[in-house]
Amino acid sequence: MTQPTPFPTDRHLDLDEVYAQCSGPGGLRLSEFMARKMGLTPGSRLLDIGCNRGVQTCFLAQEFGVKAMALDPWHDRMQGDPMAEHVRRNAEAWGVSHLVLAQKAGVPDTGFASESFDFAYSTTALEMVRGLEGEQGYLACLKEILRVLRPGGVFGLGEPMHLDVPLPLDLEPYVSQGDFPWKECFRDLRSTVNDVERAGFAIIEADYAPDAWSWWMEYAAHDPFCKQTPDGDPLTLKVDNGRWTSFGYVIARKPE
Ligand SMILES: C[S@@+](CC[C@H](N)C(=O)[O-])C[C@H]1O[C@@H](n2cnc3c(N)ncnc32)[C@H](O)[C@@H]1O
Repeated sequence: MTQPTPFPTDRHLDLDEVYAQCSGPGGLRLSEFMARKMGLTPGSRLLDIGCNRGVQTCFLAQEFGVKAMALDPWHDRMQGDPMAEHVRRNAEAWGVSHLVLAQKAGVPDTGFASESFDFAYSTTALEMVRGLEGEQGYLACLKEILRVLRPGGVFGLGEPMHLDVPLPLDLEPYVSQGDFPWKECFRDLRSTVNDVERAGFAIIEADYAPDAWSWWMEYAAHDPFCKQTPDGDPLTLKVDNGRWTSFGYVIARKPE
């Protein structure tokens, strides 16, 4: 099993805190991984789609100097506050209020003018739209991201995916349950790459993340909802044992 890659900084090593503020495998390690793949540059305009409480957005602003717009249409499940309010509070706490804006909105209805951003970043969010709205809904989100990126702009998509293998029969009941059944939400890398291409992007790089399983194990151990319901996602991952569930990324460019 691969070991997690080290953080670039020792400032955010409290994984209980990281996973309480993010929502999905990888936390800030994922953001760091994606940012390097995307080649983020200081002063560039980044859209974070499905930012949750915005800690990844703040991290990207602090570590890479991007001017970020954090987008999330939902309220959190604990206090019921709009995610955009959490983002604003986190931006204060991280000292990046001058770099981070937040808006309660989502894809595909962002309301932004075309070509507003140099980079778009989305992790562990669009597969939920696929689960709710199907492939057409997922494609509509990708097309909106293409629209709001400037020509030559770069999109980094990080997503829970399954490996290119048949779903193990004993795992099937576990990934068919809950509000967002993994079976409905997750696709393999090849299918995701096809969707990103169909939306009009040119693929720069795509693969399964080398640390995918470590990220899932961290999530199972540190996410507050996993801690509350060990017979939910943690049990699914235990039954899976790395046979089907993974995490992939697609780095793509809007053609000039
Ligand atoms: C599982 S969290 C991922 C948060 C964070 N990006 C991460 O990787 O930890 C997914 C987020 O996507 C948001 N979301 C759901 N539907 C969305 C949509 N149509 N557009 C943008 N975000 C959406 C949810 O509100 C949720 O906060």
